[in-house]
Amino acid sequence: MLSFIKLASFLSVMILAFAAPTELEKRLDTSSHCGQWDTVTEGSYSLLLDQWGASGGSGKDCAALTSVSGTTLGWTTTWNWSGGTGVKSYTNIQLNSGLNKQLSAIKSIQSTWKWSQSTSGSIVANIAYDLFTSSTSGGANVNEIMVWLANFNAGPISSAYNSDGTPKPAKSNVSIAGHTWNVYSGSNGSNNVYSFLPSNGASITSFSGDLNLFLKYLTANLGVSTSQYLKTAQGGTEATSGSATLTR
Ligand SMILES: *[C@@H]1O[C@H](CO)[C@@H](O)[C@H](O)[C@H]1NC(C)=O
Ligand SMILES: *[C@@H]1O[C@H](CO)[C@@H](O)[C@H](O)[C@H]1NC(C)=O
Ligand SMILES: *[C@@H]1O[C@H](CO)[C@@H](O)[C@H](O)[C@H]1NC(C)=O
Repeated sequence: MLSFIKLASFLSVMILAFAAPTELEKRLDTSSHCGQWDTVTEGSYSLLLDQWGASGGSGKDCAALTSVSGTTLGWTTTWNWSGGTGVKSYTNIQLNSGLNKQLSAIKSIQSTWKWSQSTSGSIVANIAYDLFTSSTSGGANVNEIMVWLANFNAGPISSAYNSDGTPKPAKSNVSIAGHTWNVYSGSNGSNNVYSFLPSNGASITSFSGDLNLFLKYLTANLGVSTSQYLKTAQGGTEATSGSATLTR
């Protein structure tokens, strides 16, 4: 199976409740990085290759930062995975400041993400924010909150399934940040995973909203404790397999 994908996106994450981060005065590293755990840090953000499931198949994943302007980063990733049914990589932009706050103390996590992807043929992947919470500051992950902006033949972790084998949402048609979502919950063996997927199945190529509203929904409706600490905030693409053509 062949695959080759270009994901160009702009991700901006800002926690308004906290002081603005100071920008590092250095030249932007725009070179391509392909190592399994390669990291490029720029200001309060890092590009993480995070090819955590690479041994489950074969292929390649590379990524680069392309621009930075204030809290907005441009980045690109190309990947080509085959074999196995598991996720191979979650190449993402990670926020490195303002974390380890209790959910009850977070006022907002404003984020804008515009992206475009070129593929050919069928792929299995998503494009999603991924947040983790812990019971103590810097402690072990307890909850994982995913906000999927696009689903390409993948599926959320779910503890319930419909008779036709499709995952059954814990909540349907929930309106948050200008879009309507189905919310799935289940354990992946390590974390309680809550996944918000666009209820109409359509990709959201331009998202702008407060990610804290998703956390507030979970604390109000699905039993997540407001005393949990936000440990990790990332936005990227979980890639399993597929084929595509890079057009530019
Ligand atoms: C993807 O990887 C396979 C196996 O190495 C290779 O044959 C193919 O040319 C690659 N596809 C692209 C588009 O790079
Ligand atoms: C969700 O909304 C869609 C479209 O309006 C509707 O067809 C569907 O029945 C709703 N699902 C539930 C569980 O309310
Ligand atoms: C499942 O658990 C692992 C291990 O803690 C975690 O890193 C990963 O993100 C989770 N995967 C999914 C798809 O939720």
